[in-house]
Amino acid sequence: MCGIVGILGREPVAPSLIEALKRLEYRGYDSAGLATLEQGRLTRVRASGKLRNLEEKLAASPLSGTSGIGHTRWATHGRPNETNAHPHISDKLAVVHNGIIENFRELREELAAKGHVFATETDSEVVAHLVAEQIREGAGPAAAVARALTRLKGAFALAFLFDGEADLLIGARRGAPLAAGWGEGGVYLGSDALALAPFAHTIAYLEEGDHVVLTRERVTFHDAAGHEVERRRQPLQAGSFLVDKGNFRHFMAKEIHEQPEVVGRTLSHYLDLASGTVRLPFELSFDAKKLSRVTISACGTAFYAGLIARYWIERYARLAVEIDIASEFRYREAPLPNDGLTILVSQSGETADTLAALRYAKTHGQHILSIVNVETSTIARESDTVALTLAGPEIGVASTKAFTCQLAVFACLAVALGRARGVLSEAEEKALVAELAATPGLMADALAHEARIELVARDVARASSVLYLGRGPAYPLALEGALKLKELSYIHAEGYAAGELKHGPIALIDYAMPVIVLAPPDATLEKTVSNLQEVAARGGHLILIGSRAAREAAAADLAGFVELPDIASAFAVLVYAVPVQLLAYHAAVFMGKDVDQPRNLAKSVTVE
Ligand code: G6P
Repeated sequence: MCGIVGILGREPVAPSLIEALKRLEYRGYDSAGLATLEQGRLTRVRASGKLRNLEEKLAASPLSGTSGIGHTRWATHGRPNETNAHPHISDKLAVVHNGIIENFRELREELAAKGHVFATETDSEVVAHLVAEQIREGAGPAAAVARALTRLKGAFALAFLFDGEADLLIGARRGAPLAAGWGEGGVYLGSDALALAPFAHTIAYLEEGDHVVLTRERVTFHDAAGHEVERRRQPLQAGSFLVDKGNFRHFMAKEIHEQPEVVGRTLSHYLDLASGTVRLPFELSFDAKKLSRVTISACGTAFYAGLIARYWIERYARLAVEIDIASEFRYREAPLPNDGLTILVSQSGETADTLAALRYAKTHGQHILSIVNVETSTIARESDTVALTLAGPEIGVASTKAFTCQLAVFACLAVALGRARGVLSEAEEKALVAELAATPGLMADALAHEARIELVARDVARASSVLYLGRGPAYPLALEGALKLKELSYIHAEGYAAGELKHGPIALIDYAMPVIVLAPPDATLEKTVSNLQEVAARGGHLILIGSRAAREAAAADLAGFVELPDIASAFAVLVYAVPVQLLAYHAAVFMGKDVDQPRNLAKSVTVE
């Protein structure tokens, strides 16, 4: 959730620490801080709020140390103020932490009884004191960290810097990602490859339970049992991690506009357009004919991609699908069938609950397939089969292009499973592939309606509550539309199955609450239009996103209409996602909100 970085450099490291933290800000931005060794002495600078506050402080009093650690925080324990900002310091060391120390209360009591004085409300500070206690008892830094690690419960990644030790950094990983890197300017630690891309030419990921001791000359990995081990070094392609906004005001706008390209790229990875067939870029680790059930689990927007996919997998592969959000699924003790396939969906590949769901499914004998955007992520590495979304780095905290790429992969998978199970004919496959192949162009057409959507968004921005309605695959898209509005503009919004309107939410209808109806031209269009008329009859504030045919059928007074091409395809939701995202984006921009980094959110949620 938080981002951590460490550098043993040859030049002053503060500017590089800041640069790495900028690349990690997507993991949280409640506060930031760094510590360096100034003439051998630990010195730290911290600031609440965004990284620029820390930058301002550093500009006023620069640091010149050539070794240091840095942190950008998403608060779990303790308010997001400067006192609780990392690094935390005790005696002779500083630590930055990503994750949660579950047993921090017991440890804190134990250490307080030994005379340790705690300055913060955080769980992280206990780590500094625990290591300091080992040093007090006579251990050297590496042994002190190794011993402290055996006492910690929870999921975390840590980086340590020691007073008077200008050539030493120690990192540890349990349940949260951490990589070591080598570059011309020194050796590095970072939460992910993105953070290290400007500096390192080679990286190696820590495995679960590892800790690593870095000096400028030597990087030594130790496994959970403390044994020295080798970890695979791999080249880092700096170019592939370029992060900039191009000509856009926000990353989110850029990422929305990239969708025709990245969805096209993802589809071409899974489809053979020349022959009109699906061609998966991997071997299935199971016999599709023998599959008894598909279980899908994910969080947030990725979960909604799974909900949409359920319609496709059931319809095209004739397979029963069970789906649940990962934070529930992991604790439900759900019985899983023999010959079951579990699909995990995650942009980052690091979401703690999704990873736990994966591990649950694995211990219950499921075939594990993950749909991820980060090939080197933990979820990818623990899966039997990895289906990559080729969305490129997604920086906007609210997921957009990763979502539509997840849908693209799911669509291809549903058709591939249908073929492999013998329930889809060659002709049906061809027709579905043609529909998919047309999607990127239609998404580009939808983007061309941006000015119209912006006007509708201004209307929506005046509301304090919004209802989103849809049927079939457009129902989960309505849930996603409501989520996008909530997270970006802080307007309360709810997604509902259009058919469920009369079972409650219809009581809410008045002109103050916009009702956004997603009406793709599928078999349920008529029913959706009836629901729309139920809203109109009660003086509702109607906004329709649909084709001209839907507009004509609606025959009602509309406060807004976004016309989309006439797409007779179950995959139309990929196209409908575009106005849904743009609507939330423009409402938030109009309201002056921070669209790339909405309050309280984080892009990668590596805590429960
Ligand atoms: C956070 C992000 C969402 C994302 C969810 C799941 O809540 O803000 O945009 O959908 O995590 O993340 P994942 O990386 O697993 O897709």
